[in-house]
Order: sequence, then C-alpha cells, then structure tokens
Amino acid sequence: MIKLKIDNIEISVPAGTSVLKAAESAGIVIPTMCFNESVPNHASCMVCAVKNNISGEFIPSCEMKVQEGMDIICNSNEVIEFRKDALELLLSDHVGDCEAPCRISCPAFMDIPKMNRLIANGEFVKALEVVKEEIALPLILGYICSAPCENACRRKQMEGAVSICQLKKFVAIKDSENEKYYLPQKQTKSNKKIGIIGSGMAGLSAAYHLLKYGYSCTLFDKNEKAGGRLLNVSENEMPGKILETEIEILKQFGAEFRLNSSVTIDHIKNDFDAVIIASGENSNVQQLQINEDTFTTNILGVFVTGSVIKPIKMAVKVVANGKATANSVHTFLSGNTSVKKHKQFNSRFGKLNESEIIEYLEESKSGNRNEPLNGKHAGFNNEEAIAEASRCLRCDCRKAESCKLRILSDKYEADQQKFKSAERKTIKKLFQNEILVYEPEKCIKCGLCVEITKRNKDIVGLAYVGRGFDIQINIPFNKSLDEAIKNSALECILNCPTGAISNFKGE
Ligand code: SF4
Ligand code: SF4
Ligand code: SF4
Ligand code: FES
Repeated sequence: MIKLKIDNIEISVPAGTSVLKAAESAGIVIPTMCFNESVPNHASCMVCAVKNNISGEFIPSCEMKVQEGMDIICNSNEVIEFRKDALELLLSDHVGDCEAPCRISCPAFMDIPKMNRLIANGEFVKALEVVKEEIALPLILGYICSAPCENACRRKQMEGAVSICQLKKFVAIKDSENEKYYLPQKQTKSNKKIGIIGSGMAGLSAAYHLLKYGYSCTLFDKNEKAGGRLLNVSENEMPGKILETEIEILKQFGAEFRLNSSVTIDHIKNDFDAVIIASGENSNVQQLQINEDTFTTNILGVFVTGSVIKPIKMAVKVVANGKATANSVHTFLSGNTSVKKHKQFNSRFGKLNESEIIEYLEESKSGNRNEPLNGKHAGFNNEEAIAEASRCLRCDCRKAESCKLRILSDKYEADQQKFKSAERKTIKKLFQNEILVYEPEKCIKCGLCVEITKRNKDIVGLAYVGRGFDIQINIPFNKSLDEAIKNSALECILNCPTGAISNFKGE
C-alpha cells in the first residue's frame, strides 16, 4: 500500500491508483472532463489538476499515479485558479452558443428554440408547457409583447426573423380554446400564504410562479376588475376577453382575487407569510427601502415588484420581474435570508458569416417569414404555425444541460474572453443519418471519440489530424461521418464531454 496525504488527510491506497481515485476514496471529488474510465486515458484538459506540494507542480490527477509520501492539495485558491485558467484556455477557441440569441434577449428567458421544435413537430401542448415554464401570461403577451427576441433572431438576416411572438400566441390560443386549460404541475404543497397587493401583470405573474411552487396566493385590488394597467389596453390591441381568460386560468390554478379592496401592508401583513406590493407606478411606498436586486424591503417578508420599483414599459419585462420576485419570495420562505443572483455561464460567438449561414440553413426549412393569413389577431392556424416554426435554425446547443465544459465554466466562473483569439474559427456541422451531429468547433480534443471508435472496431474511425494548436478530430480518408462512426454513434454522443458530438434530436 502507498501512504500519502490529500488535503491533509492521511490515506493508504494500492500502488498504481491514480491521485484522482485516491482522492475519491477520501471523499474528495475532483472535476474531470477528458477522463473516462472505459477507454485509455490521455490527460489533456487539465481541469482535474491538483498541486503536488513537494515539487510545487500542478499535475493531472486522472493520470498521475500515487507515490509514497505525496502531499497533494486539491482545494486551495491556487488550484482553483489553475483549473479556471485551463477552462479559459479551452474556451479561447471554442465556438458555440449554449443558448440561442433569441432566448438570451427574451427578458423572461423563454426557451424559444425548444418551443419552435415542438411546434414544428405538431406537439402543441408540450410547446405551451415549455412557454409556461418561464412565462405566466403567454396569451396576453401574444398580443402586447414587443418581441425583443425577434430582433435578435439569427433568421432575421435570412428571409426575416422567426415569428416567435405569433408562435407563442398560437399555442396559448389553442389552449384557451380547450375545455380544460393546461395547468402546470405544482411543487409540493406548502401551507404558507402570500398576499399580493395589486393584480396587474407583475402581481399576476408573481402569483402564477408562487402557485407553481405550491404556496397559496391572494391578490387584492382596489378596482372592481383585476388586471391593473392591462385594463387600459385598447380593444384593438388586445380584446378584453383575453385578459378575462388569463385571469380565469389563474383562478383555476388556485389564485384567489379580492377585488374592490383597498388594503395596506399593515392591514394584511399578519395574515400572510409574505406580502408583495405590486400596485404599479403610483404606489406609495416612499417609506420603504427597496433592494432592486432581490425585491426585498427593510420590512422582513415584504417584497415589491414591477413598476413599484421603477417604471417598466416593456410588458415582457414586467412579467419577468414578477417571476424574479416570486423566486425571491420562495428563497425567503425556504429559509434563506440572502438571495444571491447567479448568471449561468453562456458561451456565445456573435454573428454568423456567409458560409455558416449555409450550415445553419441545413437545419431548417427555407422560405420567407409567414404572416397569419387570417390577420394578426386571429394568429396562425396549425399548418402556418408548423411552417413558421420549421424556419427556426436551432441556434441553441444540443448539450446545453449536460456539457461538462459549460457546467465547469459555470462553477469556476470562467471568462470566455480571457484568452480569446482575435479571429474565431468557422462553424461546420456534420450530420450522420439524423442520429448524430458533429460540430468540430465545440471539440476540446479529448480523444474519447477516437478511442471509442477504435475499441468498437469502426473500420474508418475518427482520428487526430494536424498538430499543436491546430489539431482537429476528423474523419480520415475523405470518408463520410457515417462510415467513420457506424458502431459508435450512441456511445460517442453519450461520452463526448461537450456539445461537439451530440444527438441530432437534442437532449
Ligand atoms: S459545447 Fe458546451 S460550452 Fe459549447 S456551446 Fe455547447 S453547451 Fe455551451
Ligand atoms: S433561428 Fe430560432 S433559435 Fe435561432 S435565434 Fe431565431 S428563433 Fe432563436
Ligand atoms: S468530439 Fe471527440 S475529441 Fe472532441 S470533445 Fe467530443 S469526444 Fe472529445
Ligand atoms: S486531464 Fe484529467 S480530466 Fe482532463
């Protein structure tokens, strides 16, 4: 047995054990990316680095075998910085978008490409489920959203942006015509109660997300009708029955409305576990100190949302604000006093060049943006919606949820710009029989796919081509991807640590 110290814990492990495995046996988890137990190891990514305290060197723990008397550090600031640098180097020539530009520019962060794919596939109810994960009032927004997402849409430079807002409206209208509305699954029921003063967009949105968390919600409004500012929208812009339907959906979801009730915080504070002031621009909250990031106030359990904080013009921003407030209330009611915002890591590369446009168009139907034949108000019919959704270029990454490069870059707060080279590589997409997609510019050259094709006796296989920084994983002898990876497609999809090799149909 070999004796060594890892993070000051003395352990003994059999000779030939890697430092990574030795650490694991002491309950210390070291991140890995290029390491995979099922194939021969070629340490390359260095995110598993640890410090050898005796030599002062950083070593890849997945490859290095234990030695008698070793003193290994896994968790110092220095080690963390080293891993962060390793990630930033990998990101320096990584060309990919974790999330599509449309989604990034949607204040409510709606998963637009996913919605589009489901509509294109005729799965309208599932598409609405995706919309309602992030957006409480899709029917209303279908009429009054200014659609900043369409401004960012990649298809804008090719025959017009995808008609995202109309597509969202389409699934919401379909639902509103059903006998039973779609109501999302609630998380475990809580007996905590939330009082919301004001029933405009921010209040309605906060109520929806809190109901989803499992709380009960009561909305107070001094008017005889719920809706706040929405009641002033002209019939031309949005028929009144749209607001009524959306409120009915919320009622069926469990929201209680107390109209004609002018209440103050003092009136209702003792009856609720949390109170949200959502009474719009004219609210008198002068005596409250407001934290704009967390929506909290100097009174514990009292929150503010929407235009109470500062006037917000864009409807979808108000809806997003209501959701963020609901999340903050949920964090508070779950016993956490500090509500820290976290912005997930997101690789992005900007504009597509000419040849990339061609690559991206391969994934979509050509043709101009469709406008609803029966007019904007009526919206798309099934065929129009399917045709329009099929124009989406699928700009999001197929492994946005599971990519190790993204997960670790997020954890280590890596900066993609740190070592960024001036010129980025051109994106290519190689498809194999609607099973697999290979995107070389997302490859970290770990070699796992090369080993997998070798092990599975794929006659052509994948191979390293080139040298040094320009090395690439490629298909030798000008063969097709299908020939190269025939026996190994599913295994490569599963084991490629990034979105370089992914499932054609997505995650
Ligand atoms: S491969 Fe990973 S880091 Fe790159 S775009 Fe996809 S999810 Fe993001
Ligand atoms: S083409 Fe699709 S995924 Fe890309 S930005 Fe437009 S809507 Fe989003
Ligand atoms: S494509 Fe192959 S070499 Fe590149 S990251 Fe994926 S498994 Fe590794
Ligand atoms: S070098 Fe060890 S996981 Fe990549």
